Amino acid sequence: MSITDGWKFTDSNGSFELKDPHKTSHLYFPLVNESLMMSSISPGLHGDIKTDLHHFLMPPVSVIDLHNSRSSRNFFVKMGDVLWSVAGNAAGQDHANDETTLQAGILWHRIIRRNEKVGLEASVTNFVPQISKHVELMEIKIRNISTSAIEFIPIGAIPMYGRSADSLRDHRHVTSLLNRIEVDDFGVILKPVMSFDERGHILNQVKYFVLGAGPDLQPPRYIYPCLETFIGEGGSLDRPLVDFDLPFDYKNLDQYQGFEAIGGLRFENITLGPGEECAYYVVLAIGEDLSGQALIDELAGEDKFRTLLDQTTTYWSEKLDKVRVYTGDFRRDNWFRWVSLQPILRRLMGNSFLPYHDYGRGGRGWRDLWQDALGLLLLESEEISEVLHAYFAGVRLDGSNATIIGNQPGEFKADRNEIPRVWMDHGVWPLKTLDMYLGLTGDYPFLLREQTYFKDHLTHRTKQQDLKWNDGDSNIQKTISGRPYLGSIFEHLLVQHLSAFFNAGEHNNLRLEGGDWNDGLDMAHNRGESVAFSAFYAANLRLLARYAENLIQSGITEIRLAGELALLLDRCFDRVNYSSADEKQARLLAYFDSVAHQISEEKINVELSQLRSDLLEKSNWLSKHIQENEWISCEDGSGWFNGYYDNDGQRVEGIFSGQARMTLTGQVFPIMGEVATTDQIDKIMREAAALQTQLDYRLNTDFNEIQPALGRAFGFAFGHKENGAMFSHMAMMYAYALYQRGYPEAGYQVIDNIYQHCQDFSVSKMYPGIPEYIGPDGRGYYFYLTGSASWYLFTMITQVFGIRGIDGDLLIDPKLMPAQFDRNGVASIHSHFAGRELVFEFRNQKKLAINQYKVSQVQLDGDPIAFTSNGTGVIINRREIQKLDAAQTHRIIVELGTN
Ligand code: G1P
Repeated sequence: MSITDGWKFTDSNGSFELKDPHKTSHLYFPLVNESLMMSSISPGLHGDIKTDLHHFLMPPVSVIDLHNSRSSRNFFVKMGDVLWSVAGNAAGQDHANDETTLQAGILWHRIIRRNEKVGLEASVTNFVPQISKHVELMEIKIRNISTSAIEFIPIGAIPMYGRSADSLRDHRHVTSLLNRIEVDDFGVILKPVMSFDERGHILNQVKYFVLGAGPDLQPPRYIYPCLETFIGEGGSLDRPLVDFDLPFDYKNLDQYQGFEAIGGLRFENITLGPGEECAYYVVLAIGEDLSGQALIDELAGEDKFRTLLDQTTTYWSEKLDKVRVYTGDFRRDNWFRWVSLQPILRRLMGNSFLPYHDYGRGGRGWRDLWQDALGLLLLESEEISEVLHAYFAGVRLDGSNATIIGNQPGEFKADRNEIPRVWMDHGVWPLKTLDMYLGLTGDYPFLLREQTYFKDHLTHRTKQQDLKWNDGDSNIQKTISGRPYLGSIFEHLLVQHLSAFFNAGEHNNLRLEGGDWNDGLDMAHNRGESVAFSAFYAANLRLLARYAENLIQSGITEIRLAGELALLLDRCFDRVNYSSADEKQARLLAYFDSVAHQISEEKINVELSQLRSDLLEKSNWLSKHIQENEWISCEDGSGWFNGYYDNDGQRVEGIFSGQARMTLTGQVFPIMGEVATTDQIDKIMREAAALQTQLDYRLNTDFNEIQPALGRAFGFAFGHKENGAMFSHMAMMYAYALYQRGYPEAGYQVIDNIYQHCQDFSVSKMYPGIPEYIGPDGRGYYFYLTGSASWYLFTMITQVFGIRGIDGDLLIDPKLMPAQFDRNGVASIHSHFAGRELVFEFRNQKKLAINQYKVSQVQLDGDPIAFTSNGTGVIINRREIQKLDAAQTHRIIVELGTN
């Protein structure tokens, strides 16, 4: 199938069109605003609408419900006995003659349904306006496309759920008994009297609205609020049996309390002459202090709908314009716009609230928190020092962290989970994000700012409990005199990395604990080890040593640290034999015991030069250990790194019964962490290409059996999710690592491969964007909410376009392939640096290959600008950028000449 058979972009703002979207299952689209009205909508107008886990206007859906459920934002046209739904949801609808087209943009959704036999065309537009209310708006336009007049009854039919997702299975019926409905002039208001929760029911104040207005803002003629009477005995949502010529029994509303509710809105009969059109406006809202009339006054009607739609698209477009890419490839550049929206969607929706993401309770995880901050740095602003500072309050003194994250930056809660879990990779991500921030700003004093630590009953990386800590205590670590304990950000980073370094398993790699990046490796708590993340920690220890050096360069000689940390800074104090995992564990235990309840107030001054040496020694030891022990060398000369040990202490990768077992994770971090040599990278690339057939860059090869000593992931059938899918996040980190290590062609192949697959609708079956993974059938799964989007952006900006900060100065070091320039040899990116909006235009008129060009000249707003060369790139002093007018966008032209 050619690309024209899938979606095609209709403008350069990411708007696209897709014919017959209903012929593909599982498609859905997000609608959301910054106030967190969150909707999902499918071509059949299925999906749900909510503000959080406990407040759903429409019933919560999993992906299967998109075709399994009859609940939708339905709107019927009734002509005599014939029912035709603008969403395609009428029993017996003549689908064969329905032609449908999806049009969508950032962030609006339209379905056009045309049926020549019926003689009508309906165009239904939905969006969530960017206002400080929880509202979704819907416009239904119906046009007579026949040659004669058509009379019909328009009827909206939107089921109202009005409660928590927890009640979907648990007490679904009982909770309906709490329903209280009210009918006002324009529709139905549902306000259950209580929120059902057996741990303690609470009085409910939240109201759910389905309101509608017809031509000239006419209210519905009859309103049917009770689902049972609307569908009638033996009827259904797609075949309601209520007599639409009779009003609802309003006088006896009390009889209908305690039933499931629906916004059944029957408008006045209407007759459309040929070519004539009419429009209906539906307001779907959730809120405490809203009233039906006020919502209609503020939001209903064509003018208001258009104005709000324009305002909303402008709002999102302006956000996305902050990172706008031009390579002369209209389709690819527009696709990138959707990828750059994804970190924003993830910031708003976390890992829950879209049909594939039918898990989680709405909060964000620690890893995602930092990944989102990375996206924020790239997309929204560098001015996030306060947010980053606040996040560090989630670190525990044992190096683990709070896992329940509140809505406000720095809000962390105690984990009451019976099986608390430590993901051993959690320590690496804050530093990765912070490093980007420090590069962009040069704000090294940030490292010396003080912050509290998180405290709850869990100690020793959750292996023990602090029985002296009680619920009345706050979640802030205290000293022995009961004062909040404060340590520098540098100290927080040390705590995270040193506690991991000493937490060695029997093969002297860092213990896997409850899992690492791969959530599915969750069954090797006792003896599992993650070599993959040991390499990441080794690299981070090196980075921390560099920070110590930076501070020395700025004239600081000492750092004040918690006295207890001396135990882990063994090269500065009392040495440990790193070859002995037991010795490391014993030292770690002594440290854990010392910080298990309250911490002493004794601080120590450590010379930064000594700290630097200590950290470097640890980093070097770990790198060498991995290098010497974990490289699998095959007889034919090939090889790759072993990434894991399982709960039986067995090596996970290698050749098993003649079959190669290899994980991509096991390769990515030794490459990124500069543990792998160039010779090893060459071998890894060959192996990855040879072993990970079909779609390259799968998460692992087929192990052909479940791995109960490693994790649930291997229970998934091969090719799905964390067992051997092309998992975009890891593939993107692989691409990033390849660019970073000087393999741009190979890195490009990864990002190009992902793009080519995703944009081919015939196989990926998804709207523009990057999915969490590609399944065995080639379909993209879990679209919109995935950390891979942040990494795609990160790789494009900092590696492909090569724009990044280096101690606060601007580095420009592009690695663009000839194919990434337009026919005149121009490529550009709109980005920001030092609070200034900048367009970087790269000129490679001769289409030189990467290894043939280097930056030869740079102009800023038409004038040459001073730079210092840095390999193939250049560095521009921060002051040159800071001089620029912050209210304007500035143009930097980068000439690429022969190397
Ligand atoms: C998801 C999670 C991420 C986790 C990954 C692998 O990936 O969000 O935290 O590391 O699965 O288990 P994502 O959806 O971000 O691509």
